[in-house]
Amino acid sequence: MLMTDVIVKKRDGLKLSAEEIEFVVNGYTKGEIPDYQMSALLMAILLRGMDSEETLELTMAMMHSGETLDLSKINGVKADKHSTGGVGDKTSLILCPMVAAAGVKIAKMSGRGLGHTGGTIDKLESFPGFNTGISEEKFISNVNNFGIAIAGQTADLDPADKKMYALRDVTGTVPSIPLIVSSIMSKKLAAGADVIVLDVKSGSGSFMETEDKARELATELVRVGKLAGKKTVGVITDMDEPLGNAIGNALEVKEAIEVLKGEKKGELLELCLTLGSCILTQAGIAETENEARTMLQKGIDDGSALKKLAELVEGQDGDPKAVYNTGLLPKAPVQLEVKSDKAGFVRHISAKDVGLVSMHLGGGRVTKESVIDLSVGVILDKKVADRVELDEALGVIHAQTMEKAQEAAQLLKNCYTIVDTPVEKSKFIKGIVK
Ligand code: URA
Repeated sequence: MLMTDVIVKKRDGLKLSAEEIEFVVNGYTKGEIPDYQMSALLMAILLRGMDSEETLELTMAMMHSGETLDLSKINGVKADKHSTGGVGDKTSLILCPMVAAAGVKIAKMSGRGLGHTGGTIDKLESFPGFNTGISEEKFISNVNNFGIAIAGQTADLDPADKKMYALRDVTGTVPSIPLIVSSIMSKKLAAGADVIVLDVKSGSGSFMETEDKARELATELVRVGKLAGKKTVGVITDMDEPLGNAIGNALEVKEAIEVLKGEKKGELLELCLTLGSCILTQAGIAETENEARTMLQKGIDDGSALKKLAELVEGQDGDPKAVYNTGLLPKAPVQLEVKSDKAGFVRHISAKDVGLVSMHLGGGRVTKESVIDLSVGVILDKKVADRVELDEALGVIHAQTMEKAQEAAQLLKNCYTIVDTPVEKSKFIKGIVK
């Protein structure tokens, strides 16, 4: 088989066979197909698309490109969650302990942040000593003992996606539904959970800028998950502004702890109750959504969800005291309030640009090798639809130096669109695909 023939076939809008897809994935993973040919094929897929069968074949070939996790030694139902990527998205830090406290095992592989989006693994490393590189044996024994483990993806898991994603990132081929579906689902299927819940972001801070596109992505993700024999649900949620108030690793951990303590309500809690009730009902732990929500809320009210977070941290060599005393988390030396130049109502906060402010402060990765500063970031005091007065604080910058803080303050102001007339907030949970 020749790679050139496969490229030409897709360029001309024809359907690739299972053998052709397997040939491409295996050849590229082994280094037998060069980047320039793979780039051409990825662009042809982006422009010409793939049908459902091709997307499933691509997912399966990528899943089998490396090791797959065998979770059969874990008793009970195992669940995993994935977000298509956002700014201020600390959902996993709240949702996973809540679900584990309700009795579903969380065996989760997570990624690091790249560019303006954050990653759960980086956030967890804000706990002093936390080890995201635990062995497979420890991962499995922690899930059995504590009901929860969250580890970084190993190099052997889905190597095809690692290479393909890195190439897509630099060839303008990320926003393609078949490529996103195969990338996400191949990793989730290789990680072995029984229930998969997908938080599909929609809006200016996400890959899918329109709700229709996000729904299309969610539908395709769920379809592939089900065809692969997994209970899969997609929840479409708003990412037109950052999620919650904190952006930056340790700051987000602190906000997650506030939610787990029951001190903070709002969209973040609502999202975790929605995703969590999908997991509990799919896992058969709860019969109805209402019953699931009651169970999840109970974990917050009686402190068992927060205790689960402490067990997760301790089980992976971190300091669980930081869960109860967030003063032990990394803290930036400079805090600068950002005051509004204008009175009015917040119409929009560009999630992507707020992510870039955090990156400017050193909180995000420019390249995969970047070392990030866990302490820096932004707290947004004003969110969409809020009234703001002249000189009132829009937010607070957490920085290493006053100079950096001042630069970031200007950038943060530019993220806000403030208008004279009241603004209606759009729906946060836009739909559920089962
Ligand atoms: N997240 C992934 O893991 N892969 C994509 O292609 C997009 C988002």
